[in-house]
Amino acid sequence: MNVLVTGGAGYIGSHACLRLLNDGHAVSVLDNFVNGHQQAIDVLQGLAEPGRLTFCEGDLRERDKVAALLEDRSIEVVMHFAALAEVGQSMGDPLLYHDNNFVGSLSLLQAMDRVGVRRLVFSSTCATYGEPDQTQIPIRETCPQRPINPYGASKLHVERLLADYAGSVPEFAYAALRYFNVAGSDPEGRIGEDHRPESHLIPICLQAALGKRDRMSIFGTDYPTPDGTCIRDYVHVVDLVDAHVHAMHALEPGDQRHYNIGIGKGHSVRECIDTAREVTGVDFEVVEAPRRPGDPPTLFACCDRIQEELGWTARYTDLTETVSTAWNWFSAHPNGYED
Ligand code: UFG
Repeated sequence: MNVLVTGGAGYIGSHACLRLLNDGHAVSVLDNFVNGHQQAIDVLQGLAEPGRLTFCEGDLRERDKVAALLEDRSIEVVMHFAALAEVGQSMGDPLLYHDNNFVGSLSLLQAMDRVGVRRLVFSSTCATYGEPDQTQIPIRETCPQRPINPYGASKLHVERLLADYAGSVPEFAYAALRYFNVAGSDPEGRIGEDHRPESHLIPICLQAALGKRDRMSIFGTDYPTPDGTCIRDYVHVVDLVDAHVHAMHALEPGDQRHYNIGIGKGHSVRECIDTAREVTGVDFEVVEAPRRPGDPPTLFACCDRIQEELGWTARYTDLTETVSTAWNWFSAHPNGYED
């Protein structure tokens, strides 16, 4: 198939490109390099069969450019990863998030509408659920969506936009995948995670193990969880990408699919730290710090729906294995793509 990957130079998008190329698809990448890396594209170019990967630098809000790309490459399906995804940043600059994530997605959909591209797999997030009460955990797709930050709100607005559009265009089909905490890297270490600045737990542990940070902090040790630290569902990026491929192949005209993507169980911050110490063999320094605003105590997914409907299930269910693949990358690239 001819697939457009928006945000294909970023962490998750580049892993999607790798998988799609491996499966024999023709991949076109659109990325504005706000969070993406030219080096990721270079690696992918080096791995792709001639003519199988094309790259266009641009922004989703450049609608004419996007429409031309869709037409020129005869795109059949779009995997839409391009987004800003820092909760804290979104609290400080909601307009940036709604413009980039919502207006960007609207513009993409308008371009797709103009040239008749009818299939979309959208990166949504468990942040659309906000802070479900403990009786709603594990979280099902039917859990009320009440985001508590502009990032989650911007993604929920896109889900609603897609539903409205699908209601008026019967041939259109979409899947919104609500990611939990994505972690790990390509097991062969060819591409990986490189956020600047880094805010995610597992990369921060690994940077502490590398000595790139003097110490790391646990944000809150007084949560109502067994060890007092927050619990999250860490899904491997390779499994996440596999869910996209399942969704892409399943889409039929009129489909409006919504799936949680996780491993279906949670790990605490302390468990992640212990695992990172074990995998790296480094007893890096950890300090206890106050809670980070907006962190719900426990979030993990129920993934029965995607398993029942599409036959997808996570294969990386062992945190040690997930952290090991991340460590392959971080230990070989302490400075990310600069190495
Ligand atoms: N944490 C620490 N120390 C750190 C970094 C994180 O203790 O240095 C803790 C956080 O407080 C949280 C847990 O580790 O309890 C996981 O934090 P991350 O920042 O790695 O991930 P989040 O759960 O905050 O965020 C993820 C995604 C977001 C998504 C959100 C939905 O990264 O994109 O889940 O809740 F919106």
